[in-house]
Amino acid sequence: MKIEIFENYEQMSRAAAETIARTVQAAPFPVLGLATGSTPLGAYRNLIEMCGAGVLSFKNVRTVNLDEYVGLGEESAQSYAAFMEKNLFSHIDIDRENTNLPDGKAEDPQAECERYSQLLKGMPRDLQLLGLGSDGHIGFNEPYTPFGSRTHIAELAESTIRDNSRLFGDISEVPRRAITMGIADITEAKKILLLACGANKARAVYDMVKGGIDEKCPASILQKHPDAVIMIDREAAQLL
Ligand code: GLP
Repeated sequence: MKIEIFENYEQMSRAAAETIARTVQAAPFPVLGLATGSTPLGAYRNLIEMCGAGVLSFKNVRTVNLDEYVGLGEESAQSYAAFMEKNLFSHIDIDRENTNLPDGKAEDPQAECERYSQLLKGMPRDLQLLGLGSDGHIGFNEPYTPFGSRTHIAELAESTIRDNSRLFGDISEVPRRAITMGIADITEAKKILLLACGANKARAVYDMVKGGIDEKCPASILQKHPDAVIMIDREAAQLL
């Protein structure tokens, strides 16, 4: 695990975008695992700028997202499908056919998990981008999710519902379940890039880096990954 600490969010975001851009440029048909949440927004803005300036192209890139709320589709502003469209896909030269998210509106969410697992098998990721939950979750793999888990329906922890309620009108509107890549799916990526910023992530960052490898902190599994890069700002690093 390589830890990189940045003075501020802008510097972290720039470095993250450069790492992603290098991955895209290094493979003829790159596969990126993408994440939602506030943390990667700066990195996405930098990628959009690079694409606009003509120094980066997503023409040959395929993407696969980590997760989606059960019950939400692209028409709902809080869905991760809408998030990706608004914050990245609509601003870059990617072919929408090459973008993938779990379908939160699938009639049979369990069958959707199986479809997504099959899809992941055929899409080995060159890089998986991750945020970090304040409880140490990655994707929606909450504490005590088995490290061997595959795509599944996750019950959101109360703390996650609270954290994510800021993006909904009312906490009662936050879905209680999500379809998420499992931890084994995530760690199969060749390279992992995890971003975390702000003091409310400091405890989770500490557990991820300094705690033992333990299912109570899902992100701690990254200690075992051969190429995991952790980019954090000073505030998130304050307990290290
Ligand atoms: C959500 C997502 C995670 C994300 C986390 C942190 O729960 N499922 O993938 O990493 O939130 O979000 P933020 O970056 O907004 O703090």
